[in-house]
Amino acid sequence: MTAIHADPGRFQLFDQKPATPHMAAEVVRGLKKPQKAIPPKYFYDSVGSRLFDEITRLPEYYLTRAETAILKANRAAIAAHVGSGRCMLEYGSGSSVKVRVLLEACRPAAYVPVDISKEHLTTSARAVFQDHPWLAVYPVCADYTGPFELPPPVAALPRLCFFPGSSIGNFDPPAAEAFLRNTAEILDTGACLIVGVDTKKDAGTLLRAYNDAAGVTARFNRNALLHVNTVLGANFDPNGFAHRATYNAEAGRIEMYLDARQDQVVRVNGETIEIRRGEALHTENSYKYAPEEFVAKAERAGFDCVSLWQDPQHHFMVLLLRAR
Ligand code: AVI
Repeated sequence: MTAIHADPGRFQLFDQKPATPHMAAEVVRGLKKPQKAIPPKYFYDSVGSRLFDEITRLPEYYLTRAETAILKANRAAIAAHVGSGRCMLEYGSGSSVKVRVLLEACRPAAYVPVDISKEHLTTSARAVFQDHPWLAVYPVCADYTGPFELPPPVAALPRLCFFPGSSIGNFDPPAAEAFLRNTAEILDTGACLIVGVDTKKDAGTLLRAYNDAAGVTARFNRNALLHVNTVLGANFDPNGFAHRATYNAEAGRIEMYLDARQDQVVRVNGETIEIRRGEALHTENSYKYAPEEFVAKAERAGFDCVSLWQDPQHHFMVLLLRAR
């Protein structure tokens, strides 16, 4: 692991150089499937991360507002349960906005944001460090869906993991459970996980959240193609694709696609991919859970549910889980 940006002891970036070796293989494999697909993690280069931040401020995207309100209303209860002095990991930390609601209340000894987008991670972590001089901040640039190393300075600290934003909804249900099981093992007995999860609700509210009037989600969706072009030297024309988000009520998930507006031949990492007019590239699933459904999943994965909070409209839930 390469450590750079040293500011002795208190701020250090641990760069595990996550993206490129797997990206070419993953993207080509996805584009050769009968249902062509690009994994959603490739939304998030620096442009995609900024677009996602814009999404979180959209009037239609209720998730962020509901979750922040739940965290603010319950931060004292969370702090009372987890106690101070822990290593607070955040998976997919992005702009590190929501964690700020918890930092002053929980007083961890160290904050370890983990994200795939290095530039965004570094800027956000630096800002947290500047605003909380009492806190050691060790950003880790890594893909948290795979194995990664914890920074040596925090290895011996008791752990608390924060996984907000319903990012767990972007895993298929079996993968979400496997991810929780793996997290329970990494965290160790007695460690806590605070996880934010979007709930099942009327299709209209869900569809508006993923088809915003300003078209930011459409730009975010197409940015996956621009990212693939930049990193793998591919030649996708993003304007040749239309954004589409649908709700699959039976599966309990929003599905996002890019629909080809015309026949296209794309070169990706030395491979030729033919895409027919009307053919869809699947870019994301965003699963929604009923509270009891998610609690059962967490329990099967090795957690006990300590508390579950919701906003007044029951649009979102935050769970405090304890690893068995
Ligand atoms: C990061 N993730 C939880 C978002 C979601 O709602 O599934 C990503 C997103 N896709 C479209 N809009 C936001």
